[in-house]
Amino acid sequence: MTAAANVRIAPSILAADFAALGDAVRAVERGGADLLHVDVMDGRFVPSISVGVPVVQALERTAAVPLDVHLMVVEPERHVEAFVAAGAAMVSVHLEASPHVHRTLSTIRALGAAAGVAVNPGTPVGALVAVADAVDYVVVMSVNPGAAGQAFIPGSTSRVREVRELLDRAGNRAPIEIDGGIGPANAEELAGAGAEILVAASSIFRTADPAGAVGQLRDRALAGTAAAVQNT
Ligand code: DX5
Ligand code: ZN
Repeated sequence: MTAAANVRIAPSILAADFAALGDAVRAVERGGADLLHVDVMDGRFVPSISVGVPVVQALERTAAVPLDVHLMVVEPERHVEAFVAAGAAMVSVHLEASPHVHRTLSTIRALGAAAGVAVNPGTPVGALVAVADAVDYVVVMSVNPGAAGQAFIPGSTSRVREVRELLDRAGNRAPIEIDGGIGPANAEELAGAGAEILVAASSIFRTADPAGAVGQLRDRALAGTAAAVQNT
């Protein structure tokens, strides 16, 4: 049985109004957000540049929920300490970003944060076997990273299942986070496949009611876990 026992919603600030980030945080917290997802892009690992340490520091001061920092940067090992010091409770680095991912994950843990590894849609998930003992969560990318508002890549649902099986075989109950193109239309199938943390930027912040959108996403995801339990 692969269904997620519980679901956490992680709004990504990438689609929020950066001139009113505090208001955006309060809105999604009112809607029941469990985490705040912060997308850090360096213009090298991905084409765009987004935000860095000072924004994480500012969010840490204003947010009640833990910060989940997604590093889409080359040589992430050079930056993890600064992001944890800035207030990141969770830090994910890309499997594709450096040749020493296992060491970087161990460093994140040693710094006291949860260590996540993110995998691009084009990377075979079998590569995760080598780091299965060092991860506290796995981020399955369901778009090619770099921007909010892209379309969900449909094959990502079966990748969630594969990663769940791989982690289970390795004896690691680490949750799977799904990131990219997530909204009410696919939350149910993804939670049913085993995704436990749902990241969403545009389906939350590019709506008239971000707080309501968080609740709607959770309802759809919980429907997916309930259906999967019934099918076992
Ligand atoms: C993509 C980022 C995502 C992005 C999601 O590169 O890692 O977290 O903000 O945006 P949506 O939910 O709009 O696809
Ligand atoms: Zn992200």
